Amino acid sequence: MREPLPPLSQIPADIVAVNDYLPYAQARMSEQAWAYFTGGAADERLLAQNEQAPHFYQIWPRVLRDFSGAHTQLTLFGQDYAFPIFLAPVAYQRLAHPAGEQATALAAAAMQTPFVVSMQSSVDLTTLAAQAAGPRWLQWYWQTDKAASQRLLDLAVQVGIEAIVLTVDAPVSGIRNREQRAQFRLPAGVDAVLLRDVNRPAEPVAQAGQSPLFGSGFLSKAPTWPQIQQFIHDCPLPVIIKGILHPEDAEKAIAYGAAGIVVSNHGARVLDVAPTPFQVLSVIAKTVNKRIPILLDGGIRRGSDVFIALALGASAVLIGRPYIYGLAAAGPAGVAHVLHMLRTEFEVTMALAGCARLDQIQPDCLWSSSR
Ligand code: FNR
Repeated sequence: MREPLPPLSQIPADIVAVNDYLPYAQARMSEQAWAYFTGGAADERLLAQNEQAPHFYQIWPRVLRDFSGAHTQLTLFGQDYAFPIFLAPVAYQRLAHPAGEQATALAAAAMQTPFVVSMQSSVDLTTLAAQAAGPRWLQWYWQTDKAASQRLLDLAVQVGIEAIVLTVDAPVSGIRNREQRAQFRLPAGVDAVLLRDVNRPAEPVAQAGQSPLFGSGFLSKAPTWPQIQQFIHDCPLPVIIKGILHPEDAEKAIAYGAAGIVVSNHGARVLDVAPTPFQVLSVIAKTVNKRIPILLDGGIRRGSDVFIALALGASAVLIGRPYIYGLAAAGPAGVAHVLHMLRTEFEVTMALAGCARLDQIQPDCLWSSSR
């Protein structure tokens, strides 16, 4: 067993792109934490496909356009944001860095980008909200414990959370073989602090002769659309539904009052043979037809990937693992650096594609052999 190195105090000069962080991050995490953050479902085919998905598109360069007044600002859910790259909810960040989510919140505040705090955060919401500008959005898993759920929602409102990101794509954990092989367990001192007083159904345990999942009754406690509709109706904050991959589910999300959706396959951690978010984005965007904003996550590693997502119909993207690499390697400076690199690459891509503003990034910015 190797001992993880301490976080870096400055960014090494050879880190010039997101994936350059990988060896630095790996050296600073336990083998179990590395398996947890970098692993995907089952044989990890989808994990690889998520990252390859943007490579199937080409951006069509345009030259000699006017860039006076160029910017990357956007308005979403009534708030202005400087650029369309947000931080996705990732659980248990104290596995990556001693300050965990607090370091991420600091970087998000410095970079003026929303940080979606996971409901399985390893730092409490009040501490995070005390960061300058604070986190803005809270990710939510529907809970059977109504009283505890209400207490947490009240706290969210009290500390200034602006939106709830309701994740619906993981009624059961995916099969995560790499984590199992590494015998991943949360170490002492790291837990889901927001859920400490929430009664949660026990993980499914197969009785001899029973069907392992369906026989356990676990899924009978999982929410269905009517419960989601009720949650959205009762929630004092706008609700963005995360984990939509089908246009009919996007349609339902709109019908039931969602403020927005995140097209996501949960970073390839649940169903191992699902489509990638990039593959389904344009068909979902066609159905949604700008009625609500669409965000996308999964596989964003370059600023050009952000551009392609916007051209296919997303208003903004979220990144998960990339900022965790920055966090593990160099704490808040690493997270901010990852955002800075992606933002720079995105602006360079916009410049070379002849787009001075986000609304100019359209499907026809992508080259297609069928033209
Ligand atoms: C996640 N993700 C996630 N999503 C969520 O809604 N709640 C959560 O607590 C977590 N936790 C979590 C842990 C780890 C280790 C990973 C890698 C991911 C999914 C996350 O929000 C996002 O959908 C993906 O990470 C996006 O894919 P990339 O950017 O990691 O490729």
